Amino acid sequence: MNEFVVVANRLPVDKIEDADGNVSWKRSPGGLVSALEPLMRRRSGAWIGWPGSPAAEGSSVEPERFTAGDIAMVAVPLTDQEVEDYYEGYSNGTLWPLYHDVVAPPEFHRHWYDAYRKVNQRFADAAAQEAAHGATVWVQDYQLQLLPQMLREQRPDLRIGFFLHIPFPPTELFTRLPRRKELLEGLLGADLVGFQRPGAAANFVRLSRDVLGLETSRHHVTTANGRRVTAKHYPISIDFMELDTLARQPETLHRSEQLRRDLGNPKHVILGVDRLDYTKGIDLRLKAFGELLDEGRVSAEDTSYVQVATPSRERVEQYRLMREQIEATVGRINGTHGRIGRQPIHYLHSSFDRDDLVAMLRLADVALITPLRDGMNLVAKEYIASRVHSDGVLILSEFAGAAVELKQAVLVNPYDTDAMKDSIAKALTMSHKEQVDRMRPMRRRVRTFDVAAWAQAFLDDLAGAGAGSASRPGRSH
Ligand code: ADP
Ligand code: F6P
Repeated sequence: MNEFVVVANRLPVDKIEDADGNVSWKRSPGGLVSALEPLMRRRSGAWIGWPGSPAAEGSSVEPERFTAGDIAMVAVPLTDQEVEDYYEGYSNGTLWPLYHDVVAPPEFHRHWYDAYRKVNQRFADAAAQEAAHGATVWVQDYQLQLLPQMLREQRPDLRIGFFLHIPFPPTELFTRLPRRKELLEGLLGADLVGFQRPGAAANFVRLSRDVLGLETSRHHVTTANGRRVTAKHYPISIDFMELDTLARQPETLHRSEQLRRDLGNPKHVILGVDRLDYTKGIDLRLKAFGELLDEGRVSAEDTSYVQVATPSRERVEQYRLMREQIEATVGRINGTHGRIGRQPIHYLHSSFDRDDLVAMLRLADVALITPLRDGMNLVAKEYIASRVHSDGVLILSEFAGAAVELKQAVLVNPYDTDAMKDSIAKALTMSHKEQVDRMRPMRRRVRTFDVAAWAQAFLDDLAGAGAGSASRPGRSH
């Protein structure tokens, strides 16, 4: 039994099973894991999540406990059909595009929703099993929005928090969801619902009033049975010191110098690091870079653009199509502007160790982070933490949550190709003094509001949430 339990769709490690049945574990992708892993290493508790691949045909879907990297894990298996309907379907084919400004068209299928409800119940049962009496359970992200209410029904003694890592849409988009009431009621099972941005929390409160007819105030919703639920924003962050320390290691410097040599010692290195996702705006970024080369405003002889595109959700049709399109564009630009021994774009479709990633961030004179919509974007903050000499230019989309805090970045509308081109050109010619003047305040900001401060702020508010509610069984406060 645990006093503190995190429930997320994914465990921080993915299970890899070879043909002989040997099992190994590999860090799983994405911002949620990057943010919560350092927290869980410092706190005792359990992490409940899916181990990242479908359970073998006919095997049990009973949760399995193990420890990895000092974290107690509870693996919740999903069948192949559940991965298709709950994860690829409802989570990433309905909610993901809808919550990201419909940058791709969401699909609505009743059997996807049925699987979503069933899997949320399985995770809720596992959490109810693992949590000690009166424990704190912190539920993460859009894959598990029904879970807070399901858990409360079984375990009213628990203190339940929910954090949404992605944007939360305005009324006009959210109300398209056929089961919109159930999703809102699911979230209202929590004592505290956290969002990345203030507007997202306001959207949730407004929807609770308009769709469910509940009484609301600025940061609170009163449920039908008199519980008071708080909704506020808590911008997520990174472990600044871990990255800063890693970036200062002599080995990191050697590695980044070697990478620059491998690229042919270009004068400028531009870097993009993203999961290969249509929300990240990789295609529009390539278009802007290609036009700069076409017009001779950027020379392939002195500029290298490295784009890391982490494999993600590869069985989802829209992801497959986008990959084909991006790879064709890279090929076209390299074919037009490259020569033997020198390509303008280095495209890497793979995962990297933390050390390698930090070496790339240290190497980059310019980070090009231009999502069409993003809850936060931790890579932007990781770039800042890696700039130990306070130089380098961050080009950041106005539509990333990070733009709210990182005001000194070169902010850009990624849909405006001319503005993107001007931002890249400006970054490549920015004086050292201006780079430092911009980078210093951003480093201060990320150092102060790091992931520990984020978690502390959320958990402190969670400890005090629910005041004014009908009394909580088994608790003295
Ligand atoms: P998202 O959560 O949408 O994937 P974020 O930018 O918030 O986007 O977080 C991505 C996280 O994944 C960052 O911590 C980043 O360093 C890490 N990451 C991205 N690409 C890779 C990669 N190829 N190898 C290892 N880690 C990666
Ligand atoms: O941060 C958003 C998020 O969807 C996380 O919930 C998730 O773990 C991460 O991106 C990576 O996506 P996935 O788990 O689908 O590979």
